[in-house]
Amino acid sequence: MSETASFDLTGRVCVVTGGGRGIGRSISSALAAHGAMVVMSGRSGSTLEAAVAEIRSQGGKADFIVADMQREEAVVAMAQTVAERFGPAHVLVNNAGVNAIYKGADTTTLDEWNTIIGTNLTGVFLACREFGRQMLEAGRGSIINITSIGGRVGLAKTAAYCASKGGVELMSKSIAIDWAKKGVRVNCVAPAYVETDLTSGLVDHPVLAGKITGRTPMGRFAKPDEIGGAVVYLASDASSYVTGQSIGVDGGWTGA
Ligand SMILES: NC(=O)c1ccc[n+]([C@@H]2O[C@H](COP(=O)([O-])OP(=O)(O)OC[C@H]3O[C@@H](n4cnc5c(N)ncnc54)[C@H](OP(=O)(O)O)[C@@H]3O)[C@@H](O)[C@H]2O)c1
Repeated sequence: MSETASFDLTGRVCVVTGGGRGIGRSISSALAAHGAMVVMSGRSGSTLEAAVAEIRSQGGKADFIVADMQREEAVVAMAQTVAERFGPAHVLVNNAGVNAIYKGADTTTLDEWNTIIGTNLTGVFLACREFGRQMLEAGRGSIINITSIGGRVGLAKTAAYCASKGGVELMSKSIAIDWAKKGVRVNCVAPAYVETDLTSGLVDHPVLAGKITGRTPMGRFAKPDEIGGAVVYLASDASSYVTGQSIGVDGGWTGA
């Protein structure tokens, strides 16, 4: 196979949770541009509908399913619907995530903790389990979990977020071992700060923006479309011998 062909995703069914906006939206476009049939999920049907229309207008293949990652029955139904409508998924990108709060552990409520862990860790586990079963039955698949530098190093005032992302990093390594001989690879992509709704309070913040760019070797936030390249690599046959890894897409943050 040529080097170009190994990045080709034509005919692959790629599910992107939280695909309607932000990083997930850019990842969906990148996968579609490499030939994939992209199925995006999220809670807002209108956002997903607009994302599907945009990808189709650019010649890509896309569809959507409304599903809340905090609800087990919704994740189970999403996986069943994908299998029925498109066949067993080839690729799952667990991108949906929240960071609802910036506060110390001493003032974090259990509800706040549960929302973040429920979406970012338990939701990812459920999707790995449900789509993983399809992939194991098919004897192939690639799962890519979007974590964060906060899953590798501690960040201030984000105990629940860091716990959720660190949990996904190690959960991914464990599942990668379990499924390595069965044709299903599991890896992570760990961004630093990216300009999306999630960080809208930081990008223009008079103090924090400068602290973040000052701490980042590349000296800037990432654009959402700088994350998709690593995901396309891990989704495709170009990474056929890669599993249990985490690629930092972080402007040098964790390398420094
Ligand atoms: N932005 C950053 O600086 C940064 C850095 C490192 C890692 N990340 C990670 O990258 C991922 C995407 O972040 P982003 O910056 O693109 O965030 P964003 O712009 O806030 O988008 C979040 C996405 O997740 C979906 N989502 C949230 N809760 C959900 C739920 N319960 N069920 C289903 N979908 C849900 C949202 O869709 P709906 O609202 O329609 O449900 C939306 O599509 C997250 O996992 C985040 O932790 C972000």
